[in-house]
Amino acid sequence: FLHNEVPAGLRRLPGPKPLPIIGNVLELGSRPYLSLTEMAKRYGHVFQIQIGMRPVVVLSGNEMVRQALIKQGEDFAGRPDLYSFQFVNDGKSLAFSTDQAGVWRARRKLAMSALRSFSTLEGTSPEYSCMLEEHIRKEGDYLVKQLTDVMEADSSFDPFRHIVVSVANVICGMCFGRRYGHEDQELLGLVNLSDEFGKVVGSGNPVDFIPVLRFLPSVTMKKFRDINTRFTAFIQKIVSDHYNTYDKDNIRDITDSLIDHCEDRKLDENSNIQMSDEKIVGIVNDLFGAGFDTISTGLSWAVMYLVAHPEIQERLHQELKDKVGLDRSPVLSDKPNLPILEAFILEIFRHSSFLPFTIPHCTTKNTSLDGYFIPKDTCVFINQWQINHDPELWKEPSTFNPDRFLSADGTELKKLEGEKVMVFGMGKRRCIGELIARNEVYLFLAILVQRLHFHAVPGEPLDMTPEYGLTMKHKRCQLRATLRTRTTK
Ligand code: HEM
Repeated sequence: FLHNEVPAGLRRLPGPKPLPIIGNVLELGSRPYLSLTEMAKRYGHVFQIQIGMRPVVVLSGNEMVRQALIKQGEDFAGRPDLYSFQFVNDGKSLAFSTDQAGVWRARRKLAMSALRSFSTLEGTSPEYSCMLEEHIRKEGDYLVKQLTDVMEADSSFDPFRHIVVSVANVICGMCFGRRYGHEDQELLGLVNLSDEFGKVVGSGNPVDFIPVLRFLPSVTMKKFRDINTRFTAFIQKIVSDHYNTYDKDNIRDITDSLIDHCEDRKLDENSNIQMSDEKIVGIVNDLFGAGFDTISTGLSWAVMYLVAHPEIQERLHQELKDKVGLDRSPVLSDKPNLPILEAFILEIFRHSSFLPFTIPHCTTKNTSLDGYFIPKDTCVFINQWQINHDPELWKEPSTFNPDRFLSADGTELKKLEGEKVMVFGMGKRRCIGELIARNEVYLFLAILVQRLHFHAVPGEPLDMTPEYGLTMKHKRCQLRATLRTRTTK
């Protein structure tokens, strides 16, 4: 077995003893971020478990993860060939596929540049500082209206159900130049079914590691395949409409800009990376998928925390009232003046750690970490939850306390503390949507807190238990909101 051969001078990885066939699956349990945090206390910040027959290295601790993903970034930049990943974006995903380093790098660069251009593009009127701000402010206004309409009709609402449509519309605007109504069944059917996606691709799903399980009937796996098929079909239809109406002199959105790149490349005799048009235009699938599920999960958690901590909700509203006022909408440039809101968002990221692990990594060559030998092609889990709850880094880590990110007088954000929170990964595979995500969570939340007061349905206790997955969601629930008084528009 690969791991039996340890080169001279290096040590064998510590870890729990695996059982035959299933390995350490039982110890992993249904909340692997907690069980692996416990194991790190026993075995250290780098250890090995076995899931089925496959060894998996687990990294924890800010320093160890930094060492692996930044200082030895190349060695840890791969993705493992996990069973479930082959269904994502038809096996051609930028985030989940085992693309060779050159192809992945070229696609990542293209994706970053497309995202950057279409978020920073000028808005349609000077009232908006950029296209991203325009999309979020318009969707934020629709969302406030939608929630008050639903409140009037049904006297409560499911926060995720509505937030996800608004967030999907922002990325739809940038990727496809269009938006959908809150009752659009095509979009709703797609975005409201994203739970199974996260459940299957979350780190440590036994189906990925124990081949025999693939042959057992599984409702979750069937739903997962269905979601991926529907997702790809939805995007393929939009992409083919774009091909039919493509005009080189009028690049409307990210899809057009990727098509344009394919056209340019055909003329470029020096281009040395071989990539199909499908792999280029398919990038839009990743951007759309990553762009709505993560942000809507984060925002939905934010609303839950507002309801769970009414005194913090009032402080946030007061801050908006003092710094922005109530007679204009908040904008991106207000962000530095709203430190309590920024601290609240950082504390949601830290406390919920709703992406408890990054997407699994894989070593690209034989390497070593902290004196331990790690062979090429080893699957690596990065435990972000552990870093965000490490008592070495945080005082009372299980307490929800945004003040930990504020100066003693509450007027300034402690930027260095904020940088310790890990939700976007780090190094070569770090999230490429981070800036957009941070701006989007901030601006949607500022708009919501300025205009609405959220509260629980009397008699219905708030359930903050996360459901494990790549993105952890709270259970679907009903909440209430009341419109705050406002002088003008
Ligand atoms: C990767 C977090 C929003 C696009 C990732 C990773 C994490 C993450 C943890 C994996 C890093 C790793 O494997 O080491 C988040 C969070 C978000 C968010 C918490 C929102 C709050 C977005 C948005 C987009 C995006 C808005 C695009 C529009 C991507 C892509 C990757 C990625 C394409 C794969 C990068 C690669 O494999 O090279 N994100 N993300 N994400 N994210 Fe995000």
